[in-house]
Amino acid sequence: MYSKMEVIVIKQLEERIQSEGRVLGEDILKVDGFLNHQVDPHLMRDMGQAFAERFATSGITKVLTVESSGIAPALMASLALGVPMVFARKHKSLTLTDDLYTAKVYSFTKQVENQISISKHFLDKNDRVLIIDDFLANGQAVTGLLEICQRAGASVGGVGVVIEKRFQRGHELIVDQGIPLLALASIAGFEDGHVVFSHEGE
Ligand code: G4P
Repeated sequence: MYSKMEVIVIKQLEERIQSEGRVLGEDILKVDGFLNHQVDPHLMRDMGQAFAERFATSGITKVLTVESSGIAPALMASLALGVPMVFARKHKSLTLTDDLYTAKVYSFTKQVENQISISKHFLDKNDRVLIIDDFLANGQAVTGLLEICQRAGASVGGVGVVIEKRFQRGHELIVDQGIPLLALASIAGFEDGHVVFSHEGE
């Protein structure tokens, strides 16, 4: 069951996907106009509010995501929850010199393996984490973050994603572990280049 606020945000997001999204090939949705390249701050703010309300009583102390496109919705959720946001880095950096938790993330979409890292300074056993990401496809990025949380001894209170492709395996991978999941837009599939939404969570 969605709250009133969630219904409004979901409608807003679905409208943007329908009007601006482009289906590429069999299973990729391009939403560069508001999420993956240009970013709509008002939509991000509203989505952050929806994530924050859903997980308001989950004792969240930190929001985690992976760079780059997860950062905008994660930051807005963390602002609304009043907790810090930490993003896992994909690339080595001159300033990333701390002890790190790492996990390997294989991207089926891009067919590359990335190592993601989070400094041990920013995650520990006292943390309860909300994982936020832009897309949930095969769930590899979320799995990498779950592995890092396990290494840090942190607990996970939930996962929030802007768009899930319900026909890929990420959704099952998360709920089968008993982790609460809020996907704002849930795509059942693509038909003749059009997006078909799944409303099974209503
Ligand atoms: P997974 O984490 O759920 O397994 O995703 P997967 O490996 O299949 O996808 C790898 C990258 O492609 C991820 O971004 C993911 O967000 C993105 N992605 C997956 N499906 C779609 C889609 O239909 N549309 C768009 N626009 N992106 C998709 P990333 O490599 O972390 O990129 P970025 O965050 O640096 O932009």
